[in-house]
Amino acid sequence: MAVPILSLFLLFISIKSSANNITNTFIDCLNSFSEPTFPINGTIYTPDNSSFSSVFHAYIRNPVFYNSTRTKPSLIITPLHVSHIQAAVICAQLHGLQMRTRSGGHDYEGLSYLSYSNTPFFILDLFNLRSVDVNIEQETVWVQTGATLGEVYYGIAEKSNIHGLPGGVCPTVGVGGHCSGAGYGNMLRKYGLTADCIVDALLVDVNGAVLDRESMGEDLFWAITGGGGASFGVVLAFKFKLVSVPPQVTFFNSKRTVERKIIKIAEKWFHVAHRLDKDLFIRMSFDVSTDRKGIKHVHASFPSLFLGNSTRLLSLMDDSFPELGLQDSELVEMSWVESALVYAGFPVGTPIETLLSRTQQPGRDRPFKIKSDYLKNPISKKGLKFIFKKMKELPNQMITFSPFGGRMEEISEFAKPFPHRAGNLAMIEYETYWNELGTEAAKKNLEFARKMHEHMTPYVSDNPREAFYNYRDLDNGVNHHGKYSYEEGMVYGIRYFKEVNYNRLVMVKTMVDPNNFFSNEQGIPAFQSSDDM
Ligand SMILES: Cc1cc2nc3c(=O)[nH]c(=O)nc-3n(C[C@H](O)[C@H](O)[C@H](O)COP(=O)(O)OP(=O)(O)OC[C@H]3O[C@@H](n4cnc5c(N)ncnc54)[C@H](O)[C@@H]3O)c2cc1C
Ligand SMILES: *[C@@H]1O[C@H](CO)[C@@H](O)[C@H](O)[C@H]1NC(C)=O
Ligand SMILES: *[C@@H]1O[C@H](CO)[C@@H](O)[C@H](O)[C@H]1NC(C)=O
Ligand SMILES: *[C@@H]1O[C@H](CO)[C@@H](O)[C@H](O)[C@H]1NC(C)=O
Ligand SMILES: *[C@@H]1O[C@H](CO)[C@@H](O)[C@H](O)[C@H]1NC(C)=O
Ligand SMILES: *[C@@H]1O[C@H](CO)[C@@H](O)[C@H](O)[C@H]1NC(C)=O
Repeated sequence: MAVPILSLFLLFISIKSSANNITNTFIDCLNSFSEPTFPINGTIYTPDNSSFSSVFHAYIRNPVFYNSTRTKPSLIITPLHVSHIQAAVICAQLHGLQMRTRSGGHDYEGLSYLSYSNTPFFILDLFNLRSVDVNIEQETVWVQTGATLGEVYYGIAEKSNIHGLPGGVCPTVGVGGHCSGAGYGNMLRKYGLTADCIVDALLVDVNGAVLDRESMGEDLFWAITGGGGASFGVVLAFKFKLVSVPPQVTFFNSKRTVERKIIKIAEKWFHVAHRLDKDLFIRMSFDVSTDRKGIKHVHASFPSLFLGNSTRLLSLMDDSFPELGLQDSELVEMSWVESALVYAGFPVGTPIETLLSRTQQPGRDRPFKIKSDYLKNPISKKGLKFIFKKMKELPNQMITFSPFGGRMEEISEFAKPFPHRAGNLAMIEYETYWNELGTEAAKKNLEFARKMHEHMTPYVSDNPREAFYNYRDLDNGVNHHGKYSYEEGMVYGIRYFKEVNYNRLVMVKTMVDPNNFFSNEQGIPAFQSSDDM
């Protein structure tokens, strides 16, 4: 008789404690599910741990979210071993907790560490899992997703000066978000997206199983190479095929300040930048400065990378784009890995070890809002004048055009979830950076960013107005918890992926995570029987 009473008593205690303090029972679960040789409890930060706040803030890359009123994590787990990820995924579901995976924390909307839902959640923070294993014979590299792009570029350059990886230009960006969300950079005209180079992956799925490309199948592999990892599982590592780079590349960043001339150059840029030799990537950026008399001027800069020497570059520019007036004195030859730093804004000669730094670059640590667009047709002189006028009216605007064409046109829009391939002259990035902290300044500047984007409507893609998934922007639509439907997901899904790819992502999601454990404000919904597809 004593036994049932005792177990009833224990049951009562455990129900009471789980209602009062879910964290404790969750931590017990984590301890019981992880391998004794790799104890998990040294990786768990509760809010009363004195390091909780610094661990939480270490990878918040947009200060807008420092004092956010959104739901903050109840716990942070910093795995040291794959079994810790498996335990987190299993125990979270047993205890009704949600989870956000964070790699580099660069998400423009903070989706890897904050939530709009009231359901308690924890962060699975992968910064400890950052190995980079280069295999030069195979010309491949296995990278754990907690690594930064800088660590990957550095790791490749340690082994070879004629191999590289096409990827983003900011060295602190994390592999997990960047590569699962497509990833683009200054070699895309020659080699396509970062995701185009992924040849294998390791993923912890909703059951806590570790899958590689073969065991996950081609549909799920397709989904996590451009559709974002966050809706499908936890990507532990990616394997990339390396690309060839010459031992010396050529960098330049021409600045032009006379508006009349800028318009002439830009008109030509819209016609040639996507048609130039694939070795050449010429970006075009506009921003505004105010002179001593208080008059505003648009300035242009052309940060560029050429996969060849300066002699060949100059003759190429003479033939195809003389309007820029590129001078020999503007060119700097350097190794590809050095160009990764210089392109990111570091001075020529900066030691390449700087790629390993996880501290954000000066100027990048200010609050910001980013939006994106795709350009299908050249913008006319009249259009440019209108855009410049609006840039001068609205504070803090910078607009950057990244040319497409080349390799991007050769890859089908269905090959990866990223659909913006042939037919796009360029991708547009709108950056609004400001100096003042606090919600008032944020609100004002968010409005400036939205207005600029609205003014651009006549010049960019429509129906759908396409956007870049890695430039997360909640203005594209939000999937509210409890009403996580196909229709709601379509609002942003169609902009990021277009309809065919969105439908395939929903199909994969329905197959691998029908109960939507891996969710966020812009996740891919699972198809419900009540949905009308
Ligand atoms: C300064 C700056 C420069 C940038 N430059 C470029 C650029 O040149 N090119 C470009 O393409 N993009 C660029 N981006 C955008 C960047 O690619 C995205 O923000 C990307 O998602 C960041 O990845 P992360 O791992 O750092 O972010 P996180 O905030 O950690 O994650 C982003 C999203 O991915 C999910 N996620 C992260 N890791 C995993 C994982 N291991 N498994 C499953 N899901 C995961 C998160 O849950 C979240 O939804 C830039 C961003 C910043 C802030
Ligand atoms: C829950 O447990 C955690 C971990 O021991 C502790 O830090 C926290 O204070 C507890 N919260 C409550 C409400 O008891
Ligand atoms: C960590 O785990 C070990 C083994 O499971 C356990 O004995 C110990 O009490 C745990 N420590 C904490 C702080 O939870
Ligand atoms: C905070 O958590 C870490 C990781 O679990 C642990 O190593 C450390 O001892 C904790 N510190 C405090 C003050 O509780
Ligand atoms: C520059 O590159 C071209 C073509 O790749 C090559 O023929 C030429 O010799 C190179 N010039 C120098 C100065 O290295
Ligand atoms: C966050 O709030 C604190 C305290 O009010 C303030 O000092 C700090 O500047 C704020 N940080 C940001 C980035 O807004």
